[in-house]
Amino acid sequence: MKPNTVLDIFMENPGEYLSGEEISRRLSISRAAVWKQINKLREAGYEFDAISRRGYRLVQKPSRLNAVTLMGAMRTDVLGRQLKVLDVTTSTQEDVRRLAEEGAQEGTLVIAEEQTVGRGRFGRKWFSPPGKGIWMSLLLRPGLPLSCAPQLTLLTAVAVCRAIRSVTGVDSGIKWPNDLLVHGRKICGILLESVAEDERIRYCIAGIGIDANMTAEDYPEELRDKVSSLRLESGQLIDRESLIGAVMSELEKLYKLYLEEGFGPIAHLWEALSVTINQEVTLNTPQGPVTGYATGIDMSGALILDQDGRKTLIFSGDVQLGG
Ligand code: BTN
Repeated sequence: MKPNTVLDIFMENPGEYLSGEEISRRLSISRAAVWKQINKLREAGYEFDAISRRGYRLVQKPSRLNAVTLMGAMRTDVLGRQLKVLDVTTSTQEDVRRLAEEGAQEGTLVIAEEQTVGRGRFGRKWFSPPGKGIWMSLLLRPGLPLSCAPQLTLLTAVAVCRAIRSVTGVDSGIKWPNDLLVHGRKICGILLESVAEDERIRYCIAGIGIDANMTAEDYPEELRDKVSSLRLESGQLIDRESLIGAVMSELEKLYKLYLEEGFGPIAHLWEALSVTINQEVTLNTPQGPVTGYATGIDMSGALILDQDGRKTLIFSGDVQLGG
């Protein structure tokens, strides 16, 4: 059969370098059209080697998440047992919110290959390109006072950090309250959104964004020196399904522990993984910048700052390490 697209040609010639000229001749299209298709494929998660005079070689097809194999990777009783895997969505936070309002059960999980309006903390945008990251939101119905929500944020960070360490061997650490860093660069963000009634949580949506398989070129210029991916840090392609499975297993274990024994054991685990504690830090808080020595977290999840012997509790803000 005659090839119709640039991808058809690469699939028919695995491992081979093909010049733009040859592809354009075989498809009877212009060199610019070939280049456009290759760029589109790159955006969709295909990776090419390019060598001048030899051309392009397809080195990596995008790996797609599959609901059936994912179910097998999650060794859980409740979390992730209701699962939706989407190709593209605005934000998985919105998908889970809709499902929650329709009465979806605790543990409902939505994962997307791509988000067009991914969002982060403080109304920031969350870069969520197709096929390379883990963009997912989980529905929790803990039936607790709204004041417990920050504890769930920290719990989620501990679960993701432990899963990343065990699946990839990458030593990520937690920056208060819930950013995961490797060598000072962010590799994961967590956004916990709660809907409450009479000061009790009706439900929480734990949004988790993990930069799994991005290469440096995948990032826009303005993010390059601030973020990294597990692939860049480990030198290996990350099996996203195994990592999602491990995150859900850790989350379920810690969530059960939290509901049975309270926040104490989670706080210890959080402090052990933290890169904020025992450091001079500056925080951009809603009330302005605050500097001090971070000594720990209290039982509400607030950061304890020592400012010349005076203890201050910080409930919300963005940490910069170093005074
Ligand atoms: C942050 O660090 O600012 C939090 C980022 C949270 C991103 C995740 S990706 C899945 C879920 N859907 C979203 O739109 N945001 C969260």
